[in-house]
Amino acid sequence: MSVSSLAQQLRGSEIIKIAAEINELKRQGENIANLTIGDFDSNIYPIPPQLKQNIVDAYSDNQTNYPAADGMLPLRESIANFLKERYDLEYAPANEILVSGGSRPLIYSIFLAVVNPGEKVVFPTPSWNNNHYCDLLAADGVMLPTLPENNFMPTADEIRPHLKGAALLALCSPLNPTGTMFAKKDLEEICDLVIAENKSRAAGEKPLYLMYDQIYSQLTFGEHEHYNPVSLRPELRDYTIFVDGGSKCFAATGVRVGWGFGPANIVNSMKAIVGHMGAWAPKAEQMAMGKFLSDVNAVDTFLENLKSNVQASLDALYRGFQQLKAEGFNVDAIEPMGAIYLTIKVDYIGKTTPDGKLLETATDVNFYLIKNAGIAFVPFSAFGTGEDMAWFRASVGTITNEDIQHTIPRIKAALAKLK
Ligand SMILES: Cc1ncc(COP(=O)(O)O)c(C=O)c1O
Repeated sequence: MSVSSLAQQLRGSEIIKIAAEINELKRQGENIANLTIGDFDSNIYPIPPQLKQNIVDAYSDNQTNYPAADGMLPLRESIANFLKERYDLEYAPANEILVSGGSRPLIYSIFLAVVNPGEKVVFPTPSWNNNHYCDLLAADGVMLPTLPENNFMPTADEIRPHLKGAALLALCSPLNPTGTMFAKKDLEEICDLVIAENKSRAAGEKPLYLMYDQIYSQLTFGEHEHYNPVSLRPELRDYTIFVDGGSKCFAATGVRVGWGFGPANIVNSMKAIVGHMGAWAPKAEQMAMGKFLSDVNAVDTFLENLKSNVQASLDALYRGFQQLKAEGFNVDAIEPMGAIYLTIKVDYIGKTTPDGKLLETATDVNFYLIKNAGIAFVPFSAFGTGEDMAWFRASVGTITNEDIQHTIPRIKAALAKLK
């Protein structure tokens, strides 16, 4: 045994495996629309020009030594103002906000700060990466399958039986991988469960914490409104730790500036953990993001443009799938609400390809579409559901609106060949 048992048990990302297959086909000259990666093509979606200039300026200004352990104060101040203006949330820059190198280190540090090995972490499936963080901690991940009729968002009834004794409930809205969101009433009911569970715990007992990942909360469409647990139920402030950041809303996945906020005692522990990992955001990018966030007009202009382009792509794909459904194909899609994702159904498990191969799983269907329609999605099984689930994530950040339109006829032709 050459590596630790933890390293042996870690599962690699399914999405990276699909990407390897796509890259191989591309090398062979195939033209594949890659809707797998939760990223932006920076030539289609560049970062805000002001942010880019601020980064260049910060390097010119030699902002290149270690940043403060909890993030540069001007950035934490801008984040506090941003939270106040956009969500009416009040968090103190001094001790309730933590900056890290993108948002992943925040999630890992939340798990490490509140969960002991073997303790229960409750999360819905499909959802993004919670299973991997449980593996890293040897935590007892309790995966709760959600239903298409609820837009794949968890309900209080699904969660209720599992909170007794749990250390963490991990929620996300708008949700990766579905692009769907909590309705106010549904989130309120879940908040009430957390409050009731904590009231039932003995004095001195570790409470149930709620991790609320709202990294896509600025990317919502139309009437769909983002809700958060603390605004709905202020008494949850002591138990809620938010994950947020600039990766998605500013198409700045490579800039690596994430921020989290929550009760001072938890944020303080997270700060120590992030510090030991050295998982800080680069100082120049922090200074640049702080300046950008305080430029309300620049932020609003960028968000408006990004949202309308992303929404146009999601809507085009959604309409295409609805059209195929109307034509009798066994497909479906859920109306896009937020983020950069569309939830689609391609229910062809059990069908046979023209060369006689049985499509046994969602992964088989996906690879059939990659090879025969030149389009790649991610099966929900990569997000913790069973392989028999015929639902997929389509991510539109790396494709132009025009290219999206070309995919539907190719999907139609490929599906028509299945028996
Ligand atoms: C729901 C969610 N939270 C957090 C992250 C992490 O973002 P970052 O790139 O800032 O680490 C992602 C990235 O895909 C995400 O989808």
